[in-house]
Amino acid sequence: MRHICVLGSTGSIGVNTLEVIRAHPDLFKVESLTAHSNIELLAKQCAEFKPRMVVLGSVDAANRLNEQLKVMGLTVTVEHGAKALVTASTLTSVDTVMAAIVGSAGLLPTIEAARLGKRILLANKEALVMAGDLFMSAVASGGAELLPIDSEHNAIYQCLPDANTSNGGSRGKYSSLGVKEILLTASGGPFRNHSLDQLKEVTPEQACAHPNWVMGRKISVDSATMMNKGLEVIEAHHLFGLPSEQIKVLIHPQSVVHSMVRYIDGSVIAQLGQPNMKTPIAYGLGWPLRIDAGVTELDFTTAHDLSFEPVDLSRFPCLALGYQALATGGLAPTILNAANEVAVDSFLNHRIRFTQIAELVERVLNQAQVSGAVGLDGILEADKVAREHAQIMVKGLSA
Ligand SMILES: NC(=O)c1ccc[n+]([C@@H]2O[C@H](COP(=O)([O-])OP(=O)(O)OC[C@H]3O[C@@H](n4cnc5c(N)ncnc54)[C@H](OP(=O)(O)O)[C@@H]3O)[C@@H](O)[C@H]2O)c1
Repeated sequence: MRHICVLGSTGSIGVNTLEVIRAHPDLFKVESLTAHSNIELLAKQCAEFKPRMVVLGSVDAANRLNEQLKVMGLTVTVEHGAKALVTASTLTSVDTVMAAIVGSAGLLPTIEAARLGKRILLANKEALVMAGDLFMSAVASGGAELLPIDSEHNAIYQCLPDANTSNGGSRGKYSSLGVKEILLTASGGPFRNHSLDQLKEVTPEQACAHPNWVMGRKISVDSATMMNKGLEVIEAHHLFGLPSEQIKVLIHPQSVVHSMVRYIDGSVIAQLGQPNMKTPIAYGLGWPLRIDAGVTELDFTTAHDLSFEPVDLSRFPCLALGYQALATGGLAPTILNAANEVAVDSFLNHRIRFTQIAELVERVLNQAQVSGAVGLDGILEADKVAREHAQIMVKGLSA
């Protein structure tokens, strides 16, 4: 039996994780759950999964949940704030952490769990983007098992030569095993065929309506700008130890081929499946065994079109910014991520236009000091400064 902490249990990935867990009560026991403000759903999850500890974002939210749990006759330790997230992910009884908080708030509880050698199921790509080298060092020094949950990276993990034994790639390892490059697929989001003029008029509601995937609002906007793919290029670099020249992006509108690995002998190995996050989640939870994810099978008795096309970087500059930040190195990915989080939040709150997301991130990235200490303190400081800088720019843009 595995003992699970779900960071971000009320989000899209968190809810899907609990659905897989619900189907396998003999395999998984929930030890701790965390949310930011969704008290109602967290209370329901407490009633069903009986965690020993839960965490919310504020003292007010924690007090309200405590009252609700009292009425329900449940005894659960309720805490709040950033330190409590770390407590939840590092409980001695926890051996597996689903990292599904959105954004930089997920970094500390995930990295601390890695340092302690827990199994990390990583959905929270922002944590790896903002602190890649540090994160991978924590995994190595703690002897943690790191399994990618992002569907593309999960697919690549399954297509690499040693998926059942490996724990990410040390630099150069996969090149020596005949891997030529990895091909990250991208649906292209809801605006794949929009002109630049049409992109200027896009609303948050339209950006959050992804054609293939049901996801949280931040990643939906990232998918629409293709910053999601930029973040994923950086994520892939850290997970698999490959340089950016060996990480390519392809548009694949059907979202059936979740990604591919090309080998030097001309072979290309792909992982296919429904666009349903329960498949990679079940892979991570069950690894190294396969468990039922409760997902409809792909039906090959009816015709399927699988098409691929190159990305037009002029319409999706955020992807180019991801490659730029990776090439620059140092604190550039941290700054890219911070500026993007502010820009997406501002767009969702109708303060800037869709196309201004890329403009804002580019300006913050190009004006920031990217060299500096890449220890945890340096990263958190760069994150804070980039956010302040981005906020000032948002005020200028929305004035
Ligand atoms: N959804 C997908 O299909 C998908 C696919 C691949 C990767 N991912 C990655 O998985 C992560 C989660 O995505 P999602 O779509 O599940 O997001 P989501 O639906 O927005 O859920 C985010 C979760 O994080 C919590 N949260 C938000 N802000 C927080 C904060 N400041 N401190 C602590 N907790 C906070 C939320 O709590 P409340 O509900 O209380 O606000 C919620 O539980 C992201 O990094 C995303 O890039 C998602």
